Amino acid sequence: MSAVWSTPLVHDRMMVTGAGSGIGRGVALEAAARGATVYIVGRRIERLKETIALAEGAPGTLIPLACDLTDPVAVDALFTGVETEGGPVQALAHCAASVQYQPAREITFESFSQVIGTTLFTAFNTLHRWARPLLDTEFDGVAVALTSSVAHRGTPGVAHSSAGKSGIEGYVKSVAREWGGSGIRMNVVGPGRFPVEKSKDMWDRLTAEENSTGTARIAVGRYGRLSEIVGPIMFMLSEAAGFLTGEVLHVGGGDRLTPAIGAPPGITAAQATGDA
Ligand SMILES: NC(=O)c1ccc[n+]([C@@H]2O[C@H](COP(=O)([O-])OP(=O)(O)OC[C@H]3O[C@@H](n4cnc5c(N)ncnc54)[C@H](OP(=O)(O)O)[C@@H]3O)[C@@H](O)[C@H]2O)c1
Repeated sequence: MSAVWSTPLVHDRMMVTGAGSGIGRGVALEAAARGATVYIVGRRIERLKETIALAEGAPGTLIPLACDLTDPVAVDALFTGVETEGGPVQALAHCAASVQYQPAREITFESFSQVIGTTLFTAFNTLHRWARPLLDTEFDGVAVALTSSVAHRGTPGVAHSSAGKSGIEGYVKSVAREWGGSGIRMNVVGPGRFPVEKSKDMWDRLTAEENSTGTARIAVGRYGRLSEIVGPIMFMLSEAAGFLTGEVLHVGGGDRLTPAIGAPPGITAAQATGDA
């Protein structure tokens, strides 16, 4: 992928979580293309190595680190290792999450906890631990966390994900206020629908009718392309966004301009309402 946003990054040593696939992988490859040193994080080391193979020839360096970000002890060890190597990492793109579709009526305490764990707790564990050495020193820092348009649309079938993603937005706004004076900026990017890798497989299985229903509620009439979400994330990490903090940038091709009509792919409206 070529450089999608040419304004210099604030810091060229950074961490990207969820870099073994999808949007996080796109961010890591773009950062490598710009010559950055990037710690790439996910649970599966083989997926991270695939990302490194895709970056072959890029001027930057990708360093794979396997970690389950739901575990605060593992996250502490992750950052301690990186900091021992080269001091605090001053830029972070937190793209890791896994969501699941489930009608609200079927959500149990266990499934709710699991999804809150992989959305909100991974974000808290990562962002909180990332900031700690920056707050203890004179270093500044910039972070971006991914949420989702589902948090704003009342989308059926993802009540637990919506709660987790909304929680991330609330957390980021509060800490942006508390930590802004210490030179830390933190923003949110909320993707609409980007059929990348895992989610692409799911959306590729949709019928033509399901696809046209999905794209009809997007103002530009199509799903997003990888570069169209990587660009806004890189913008948040760049000098061009130097006066932005605590903001939520929605990148959905205008999907928030239309009423929330549809359940996500793979779940029927009847299932979502519990009528199936
Ligand atoms: N694609 C879309 O249309 C879309 C729409 C709205 C929001 N988003 C958000 O954008 C972000 C990226 O989405 P994506 O489509 O790129 O998803 P993806 O391809 O599933 O990537 C998510 C990555 O997170 C990693 N991950 C999941 N749980 C983890 C954990 N506990 N610890 C460490 N790593 C973990 C996964 O790797 P391992 O399994 O190897 O750990 C995976 O590489 C997510 O926050 C997602 O909710 C995406």
